[in-house]
Formats: sequence, structure tokens, C-alpha cells
Amino acid sequence: MTKLPDDIKEKYIEAGKIAATSLQYGASFIKEGKTLLEATEKAEKKILDMGGEFAFPPQISLNRIAAHYCADPDDDIVFKKGDVAKIDVGAMIDGYIGDNAMTVDVGGEHKDLVDASREALNAAIEKVRPGVTLGELGRAIHDKIQSKGFAPVRNLSGHALEQFVYHAQPNIPNFDTGDDTELEEGMVIAIEPFASSGAGIIFESDRGNIFSQVAKRNVRNVISRQVLKEVEKFENMPFTTRWLIKKFPAVKVNFALRDLMQNGIIRSYPPLPDRDSGLISQAEHTMIVEDKPIITTKI
Ligand code: CO
Repeated sequence: MTKLPDDIKEKYIEAGKIAATSLQYGASFIKEGKTLLEATEKAEKKILDMGGEFAFPPQISLNRIAAHYCADPDDDIVFKKGDVAKIDVGAMIDGYIGDNAMTVDVGGEHKDLVDASREALNAAIEKVRPGVTLGELGRAIHDKIQSKGFAPVRNLSGHALEQFVYHAQPNIPNFDTGDDTELEEGMVIAIEPFASSGAGIIFESDRGNIFSQVAKRNVRNVISRQVLKEVEKFENMPFTTRWLIKKFPAVKVNFALRDLMQNGIIRSYPPLPDRDSGLISQAEHTMIVEDKPIITTKI
């Protein structure tokens, strides 16, 4: 790969700025007594107010859940002291994505865990340049998290970004896989270490409310057909139940989503809890790979 053209670079930088501003703003509502739904909606509104589009629905995942918890339409979760809240936000300009995440330590009882993923992210960023291998990045993350007494989550990873592709190849591992694939100039990557006080292995729980369209096909049911028309407007990018409930009654949406899943037209991304119920922290930045990388989500 070669250097990114300036106009594309500018779009990545703008998307990164929007994603970072939304992240900070959403995080400012993660406080004891406030609701997860409000913090999520604040983050969403900020992206739209700044002229961005959603790369995926903002997510706030608590405690043992590493990722992919997205507020339900009638979500009643209230933040409480001791919560470890990961907020993950992605914004898009013309399909170019800024993806970032941070952890809020509600009540201040888990500072070491929160530091572990953030310091691991910084350790990896220090190594980012054309020619560094994926294994080296993974090792930097792994070493830092282990030195703080935690386990890196091994079956979650960072990723490259491309226009309209929020998880492109290669994956950026959170441990030393020995992969000698090298970063190249002009790549755009998101590095996202997760630190766990438990197994460092996550699994897919059963029910989620983040979806994306995976096949283009007709459905017979009238309700499903109406909802599918809206789903197609997301153009294969992830969406959530709340966005559809602005257009249709909840019963219709829930029926249609189930029907579309059964027909293999959409898939869901369920919450990802730690196998041993460990607490999990996360930190993430998006960057453009150059001799001196440009961190697009740093504000
Ligand atoms: Co990401």
C-alpha cells in the first residue's frame, strides 16, 4: 500500500474527530444514577449534530460483558457504583470510519483494570509504523496487560478499516500470535485491547439487538417486508432495534427482526461476556499507518 490520498485522509480525520467527541460526550453521562439509554442517545445525537453518520450503533457494555451491548428501546439499566462501563462509538464520513472506545470506572474501584487496557493501547501505538508485525503489536498489548495482573481477551481483536467496512482484514491481535504480517503505509487500523480479571475468553450470549443485513432476498410476510425496506436503507451497516422503533410499533419490529433472522436476511451480534465472569476494560483508537501514525480519534 501507499500513502493515502489527502482527500481521503481528511475524511478519516473528520470521522475520527466526530467519533472521539461523541465518545467523550457519551462518557460524561456514565455516572451513578444515570441511565445507559440516556448516555447512548447522547452519543448518537452528537454524531448526527456534527454531520457524521453511524458506522455502527453506539454500545455501552457493563462489567463482565466485553462488547456489543446496545440499549434496548425500553432499557432500564441505571449505572451504579462499581460498574466498569465500556463505551464504543463509530462515526463515518462518506464511508470513512473513526472507531474508538474507552472505559468509565463508575465509583473509582477498578482503576488498575481500566489502566491496563489504556496502557496496553498506548504501548501498541508506540510500535505502530510500516513494517511492524501483527505479532509484535499483540505482544506489546499482552505484556502490558499481564504486567498489571490481568488477562488480555484473546478472542477479540482490533482490525483494519476501509470505506464502509468497519471490520476489514487484517485483525490486530491482543496477544502474540506470531503472525509476521507487516503493517503497511496507508493502512487504517483500530487497535482495541481488552483486559479481563477473569478468563480473557469471551463467548456469544444468546440474544442481541445489533443486526446487519447479510443477504438480499424477499420475504413473504407483509410486516417483515415493510421493516426490510427500512433495513435496506442501512446498506449493510449495523443497526439496532431502537432505530426501527422510530418508524414502526415495537411488536412489528420484534416480529420482523425474528422473521428476517430466520430467513437468513439479517444476522445479530449478541453481547459478549467473559467466560469466567471476569470484569473487563477496553480502550480503542483508530489510526492511519505512517512513519509517524496519525491517531484520528485523539482529541
Ligand atoms: Co473497533
